Amino acid sequence: MDYRVYIAEKLNVDGIAASDIALPPNSEMGDYALPCFKLAKIFRKSPVQIAEELKNEFVCDSVISEVSAVNGYLNFKINKIGLAQNVISEILERGDNYGSSEEGKGKTVCIDYSSVNIAKPFHIGHLSTTVIGGALYKIYACLGYNVVGINHLGDYGTQFGKLICAYKKWGVKEEVQKGGIHAINALYVRFNEEADENMEAEAREYFRLIESGDKEANELFEWFKSLTLEYVKTIYDKLNITFDSYAGERFYTDKMQPVIDELKRKNLLKESEGAQIVDLEPYGMPPCLILRSDGASLYATRDLAAATYRKNTYDFYKCLYVVAYQQNLHFKQIFKVLELMGKPWAKDLVHVAYGMVSLEDGAMSTRKGKVVWLEDVISKCVEKAYSVIAEKNSALENKSEIAETVGLGAVIFGALYNNKIKDITFSYDKVLSFEGETSVYVQYTCARANSVIEKSGQKIQLPHGYMPNNAEFEVIKALALFPRTVRDAADKYEPSLIARYAVDLAQKFNKFYIECKILTESGDIKNFRLALTKSVHTTLKAALSLLGIGAPEKM
Ligand code: ARG
Repeated sequence: MDYRVYIAEKLNVDGIAASDIALPPNSEMGDYALPCFKLAKIFRKSPVQIAEELKNEFVCDSVISEVSAVNGYLNFKINKIGLAQNVISEILERGDNYGSSEEGKGKTVCIDYSSVNIAKPFHIGHLSTTVIGGALYKIYACLGYNVVGINHLGDYGTQFGKLICAYKKWGVKEEVQKGGIHAINALYVRFNEEADENMEAEAREYFRLIESGDKEANELFEWFKSLTLEYVKTIYDKLNITFDSYAGERFYTDKMQPVIDELKRKNLLKESEGAQIVDLEPYGMPPCLILRSDGASLYATRDLAAATYRKNTYDFYKCLYVVAYQQNLHFKQIFKVLELMGKPWAKDLVHVAYGMVSLEDGAMSTRKGKVVWLEDVISKCVEKAYSVIAEKNSALENKSEIAETVGLGAVIFGALYNNKIKDITFSYDKVLSFEGETSVYVQYTCARANSVIEKSGQKIQLPHGYMPNNAEFEVIKALALFPRTVRDAADKYEPSLIARYAVDLAQKFNKFYIECKILTESGDIKNFRLALTKSVHTTLKAALSLLGIGAPEKM
């Protein structure tokens, strides 16, 4: 049950919604509170007076055991016995499904994420889009939505002409086959460093050949593409990321003309210095370039075609673009153009922007070839994870396997933990600290809960009518918040809410674990604490899994 919704409905006052009900920092006062300051204007009374009046009208029941009015706050105390019973029995019953719902049934959410560029490095800059998109995918699926994960490949552009030219000049088939993405990227970098006028002209010709369907040029291009995809898929596997479509920019080659025609028909296309544009000046934006003066299409043109295609194909309820904030303007422009074209669904397009990730030893630079490959960040994290867990528990079996789960978790959690729009500095020591707000901490807590249950060797039985103590009750309240957190994360496109939730629940459980004995107790106390421990294990595991992170049973 969602207590905030329950309280708001019970109060039944216009202007009060579940979201107005807060969690007081100190639960001595109450478990939930309604600040009445906002209501003062509406009711033309002082907050103190409003709280007092609402208190007098409120009738306690089996859910809310006490109300009080203090300094303009209306404080509620929850019936502890009832809450403990409801929450724990729900978790024990639903197991891995705790937090899931059917609320998205019949609705489709498209998520455009990771969207790698063919023959370009898959670097640390792609980490956030990949793991944020991957988490949103799982979060929406958990809420019953039909989710379509789309990798909008960067597979269109003159750079592929350059690549073919470089390959023809310097490439060796076997070496490229063996070296994969690293080899093709090296060819591309070399082209940019060494190409002269002649090679540039040749590259343009190769690009034209790709465009005009030339067999050899297209075979080479497809080969480069498959080498890139083979490579990124190994990383997706590690990060538990999946896609339903790899329709990239090239896919829209023959789908742009209808959009251009429609723009023309609707009088939105204007000529400017030979180019075709949509004027966005009235909306305070630079023009959206649709066709260059040589007739070539642009990134925006393909995105207009892609959005239209997705609407027609999937009839989405929402279409999310998990792309860095550097592209804020681009998305504002294409959303605006679609709105001007009279597409009512333009309002369902959402740019889920996120900040930059840099490493402690300085920001990465793509152009100079000084790129930090994501693959290397992952290996380094796994390597470090091994020494961290071996130090904590040298007798641990399967250390390598566990180090893999812990290291990958640290990469994902490190990129997810902060509000997504913040720029972050990735620190190997920080993301792998047992003490910090980290996935290792959550995984370790999860393993600890599991080991308590295993040691007990007994079946979980929730006793009736148990009155929880404070430490237990704090854990129970945190457990109760999980379903709402999943929904909030979806509504705000913010997987960090789940990461933070997991840390908070783990902290509360650890406080309980330090304060309360479990295995040396007996009867109802022992049974209750074991049931609580089991619920924490289930919920932490579910939270981690929504982020794409595994939970080792032993650590
Ligand atoms: N490949 C692009 C880049 O690396 C991101 C594509 C994002 N998706 C889109 N529909 N524009 O910048």
